[in-house]
Amino acid sequence: MTSFDRLLADELRAHLPGSVIGQEIIVLEQTGSTNDAILQTPVAASKDGLVLFAEHQTAGRGQRGNRWESAAGKGLWFSILLRPEINVSESGRLTIWAIEAISDVIRTEFSIEPTIKLPNDVQVHGRKVAGVLVEMRAQEKSPHLAIVGIGINVNQSREDFPLELQDNAVSLAMVLGRQVDRPTFAVALLRNLDQTYREKFVRGIIPM
Ligand code: BTN
Repeated sequence: MTSFDRLLADELRAHLPGSVIGQEIIVLEQTGSTNDAILQTPVAASKDGLVLFAEHQTAGRGQRGNRWESAAGKGLWFSILLRPEINVSESGRLTIWAIEAISDVIRTEFSIEPTIKLPNDVQVHGRKVAGVLVEMRAQEKSPHLAIVGIGINVNQSREDFPLELQDNAVSLAMVLGRQVDRPTFAVALLRNLDQTYREKFVRGIIPM
């Protein structure tokens, strides 16, 4: 990780004025899983759209109980805390929203044509570049809590992946043949997520 490529909460937030997603940002050097860490933060109780990144996850989780590899400083590993007005049974809507946003931003920022592989993968040339893990917590008297966990392989080389993943995983840097500035990409993705979340999940206010 070079110094220009570090994720800094204040700098990321400064590029997201007026956003709900990213109005509060935390960057941890290391945690088990960002999906667990976000629920343990003091602001979790109040802030909708809190985003928690970790430079390294020691116990990143994927779908179906799989482990998610999170090489230190090489990817974007983060979770978003939301309170959408949906039922727990509709959590798939959040997964689709997130994978479409990731796919769109990869396309527009890098002119790469990704493929969405349902239920939760974004692939390039048939290899996984990103995945989404949505977990919901039912609440009795308020909208349910949703934790949208996003993992994107950004600057790994083939050797950064464990042997058993090397033929199935890919990073953006491997596809592009150059390193990617993670903060710039993170801001573009958070902007897209903020805008599309409003369109898909926030009820419109009827003008008077
Ligand atoms: C999958 O494709 O199986 C889902 C992968 C989701 C990985 C991300 S990384 C950030 C967040 N924290 C986790 O423990 N998992 C998600």
